[in-house]
Amino acid sequence: MASPSSAPHLFLFAASLLLLSSSPATATDHIVGANHGWNPGINYTLWANNQTFYVGDLISFRYQKSQYNVFEVNQTGYDNCTTDGATGNWSSGKDFILLDKAKRYYFICGNGQCFNNMKVSVLVHALPSPPGGSGNSSDKSAAERVLDNAIGFTGYQLGVCGLVAAILMAPVWF
Ligand SMILES: *[C@@H]1O[C@H](CO)[C@@H](O)[C@H](O)[C@H]1NC(C)=O
Ligand SMILES: *[C@@H]1O[C@H](CO)[C@@H](O)[C@H](O)[C@H]1NC(C)=O
Ligand SMILES: *[C@@H]1O[C@H](CO)[C@@H](O)[C@H](O)[C@H]1NC(C)=O
Ligand SMILES: *[C@@H]1O[C@H](CO)[C@@H](O)[C@H](O)[C@H]1NC(C)=O
Ligand SMILES: *[C@@H]1O[C@H](CO)[C@@H](O)[C@H](O)[C@H]1NC(C)=O
Ligand SMILES: *[C@@H]1O[C@H](CO)[C@@H](O)[C@H](O)[C@H]1NC(C)=O
Repeated sequence: MASPSSAPHLFLFAASLLLLSSSPATATDHIVGANHGWNPGINYTLWANNQTFYVGDLISFRYQKSQYNVFEVNQTGYDNCTTDGATGNWSSGKDFILLDKAKRYYFICGNGQCFNNMKVSVLVHALPSPPGGSGNSSDKSAAERVLDNAIGFTGYQLGVCGLVAAILMAPVWF
């Protein structure tokens, strides 16, 4: 039998699990071209227009790594199929790229296939602020947000954890 004093603890423990599981919506992995993957002759504008991208989502490229690759470029690179000044490049054949800023991203294939439509541009939207959220998450540096994603905790969740810890400790003080 549980002693009378442990009952509130069990209740609060269960309540804290519920709170933690009601975390903000999880990130989406947007697979470029869906089941067509990253290949020539596909209109990726149609693909991109059919989904909504939010900060923290991933975009992933699936392709034959012996044939293709991925470069992150600016609008000039996208329009003209040039990789000059590219800010990133990937070639694993299964690349997961974190979209950590609310902005328009441009990706192209760097081996000439950009001219066969291997280019995609996606507009990433800021997340709606979480209920009771305090800060403006766009104030955070990219590094902080990458860290948040790596740890899998948002400031909101950390706040909830602190609150729950305080509640759980409270009976000890009586
Ligand atoms: C791809 O589709 C978009 C939207 O319908 C269209 O504007 C664009 O011209 C198409 N691109 C090509 C290369 O066909
Ligand atoms: C748009 O997305 C829906 C659901 O994800 C899918 O059924 C549909 O085929 C997509 N359309 C295009 C043009 O990709
Ligand atoms: C990109 O191509 C356009 C014509 O399509 C040209 O006017 C412009 O100078 C090119 N920009 C660069 C940076 O090469
Ligand atoms: C894109 O980057 C190239 C090379 O760094 C630069 O010359 C060009 O002005 C940039 N274009 C835009 C739209 O920022
Ligand atoms: C690819 O990115 C790495 C850094 O991540 C850089 O050193 C390298 O020069 C890039 N390659 C090309 C072809 O831009
Ligand atoms: C967050 O801050 C940025 C710049 O500091 C601002 O542009 C943006 O509108 C703010 N967003 C909200 C939801 O307050």
